[in-house]
Amino acid sequence: MRSSVVIIGLAIAAPFLGTGCSKQVSYAADIQPLLNQYCVQCHDGTGEGSQKSGFIMTNYDSVMKGTKFGPVVVAGDSESSTLYRIISGKVSPKIDMPPTGPESVAIGRGHKMTPDAITAFQQWIDQGALNN
Ligand code: HEC
Repeated sequence: MRSSVVIIGLAIAAPFLGTGCSKQVSYAADIQPLLNQYCVQCHDGTGEGSQKSGFIMTNYDSVMKGTKFGPVVVAGDSESSTLYRIISGKVSPKIDMPPTGPESVAIGRGHKMTPDAITAFQQWIDQGALNN
């Protein structure tokens, strides 16, 4: 089981999957690269995502600042964090992020996140959303 998980996750998630689920997730080594891969194209300050929502994901401070409506990360509580709720599909399909479905309000399209990437965000938030 562990080896198949490692193989599936290798391309993106090897650093934290290789040692199992309990390892501390690192913002710099794990989370920012995932944001760069899946989100920053539209949420870089000029892209459509940041223009409409005010949410910029190029660094830790702006991620924690959140959207123009306020924070989307509740440190220690992924289930209350808008960021996690959106990427794990717990909200309306209109705000699915990255936008992949036909109902999305975004003009552009993102790439569907792997389950391992989504789990990394969940663990990072539950571990305190640290700038580590
Ligand atoms: C193809 C472009 C695109 C990509 C890629 C993208 N977004 Fe967005 N995002 C948008 C747009 C456009 C909006 C504004 C939607 C609206 O009108 O409310 C938005 C809004 C948001 C919001 C605010 C939602 C709200 O209702 O307040 C969050 C949070 C968000 N995005 C997170 C993410 C995350 C996390 C990723 C990467 C996993 C991501 N986005 C990738 C385009 C994108």
